[in-house]
Amino acid sequence: MSQAQTPIVRLNSGVEIPQIGFGSWPVESAVVVRDAIEAGYRHIDTAAAYGNEEAVGQAVRECGLPRAELFVTTKLADDRHGYDKAIAALDESLQRLGLDQVDLCLIHWPHPRAERIVETWRAFEKIASDGKARAIGVSNFRISDLERLAAETDTLPALNQIELHPWLPQRELRAYLREHAIATEAWSPLAKGGELLTDPTIAGLAERHGKSPAQIVLAWHLRLGNIVIPKSVTPSRIRENIDIFDIRLSDEDMAAIAKLENGRRTGLDPDVFP
Ligand SMILES: NC(=O)c1ccc[n+]([C@@H]2O[C@H](COP(=O)([O-])OP(=O)(O)OC[C@H]3O[C@@H](n4cnc5c(N)ncnc54)[C@H](OP(=O)(O)O)[C@@H]3O)[C@@H](O)[C@H]2O)c1
Repeated sequence: MSQAQTPIVRLNSGVEIPQIGFGSWPVESAVVVRDAIEAGYRHIDTAAAYGNEEAVGQAVRECGLPRAELFVTTKLADDRHGYDKAIAALDESLQRLGLDQVDLCLIHWPHPRAERIVETWRAFEKIASDGKARAIGVSNFRISDLERLAAETDTLPALNQIELHPWLPQRELRAYLREHAIATEAWSPLAKGGELLTDPTIAGLAERHGKSPAQIVLAWHLRLGNIVIPKSVTPSRIRENIDIFDIRLSDEDMAAIAKLENGRRTGLDPDVFP
């Protein structure tokens, strides 16, 4: 459960990210984020759209740890695509966070119909070269969006944050990301904590390993190499979700979980949104 145990993933730019982070939407309170840091999380995921960058920044600034020990991700709001708008938007995020730099800045959604991902990505390259973000990446990008960036810009995203859990393992997209050295980060890693956690396969594995269903799902992610950002406002669950590094799922366990794939989403589909 300690920070020392948290596995680290090295991104293609050389920046290191803790493999488990705290998902902060919808969390409004700096106290909850402080609880997560106290429980051992050293990576916090926020976004301009979550309206909680002030609270996240306050927790990071006031938790008593050196800034360098914490990894903070934020994301560009969907109405801030475009070169100048994206640069100004990140400055505003930094101001709300009360930080000089984020560790990772993501394009929250590709908005392909707005035709501005290339322009926005060039702004992200500038944000990185100015040192305002240590790493830059994307979220909810499909293979076609990533291919466009690869063809028309100079920098590969460090990671792609996508909906991913046993119902939606994103095999094809994960294979593409692996092949291009782009890390995979899972949002809604617990499929929002409902039905998936009462599934008999997950519940059975939980009983066999002496762990909770959520811990089994998170251990599945770690074994696939995914970075995960589970969210909870419940102190016991916040601690439980980071107490997973001793779980060893066998190949048979992984194969049983693989059978749960049904394509079900819990959030928006980038093919449909916006
Ligand atoms: N990039 C994107 O477009 C995008 C989209 C969605 C989310 N995200 C990010 O991903 C993070 C996580 O996604 P998410 O919040 O949608 O889903 P999630 O982490 O899969 O699930 C959160 C839900 O599961 C419950 N939960 C957490 N731990 C549990 C446990 N150990 N046992 C039982 N239930 C548990 C939580 O309840 P309590 O809080 O009541 O404990 C909450 O209702 C977000 O916070 C956000 O940072 C990104």
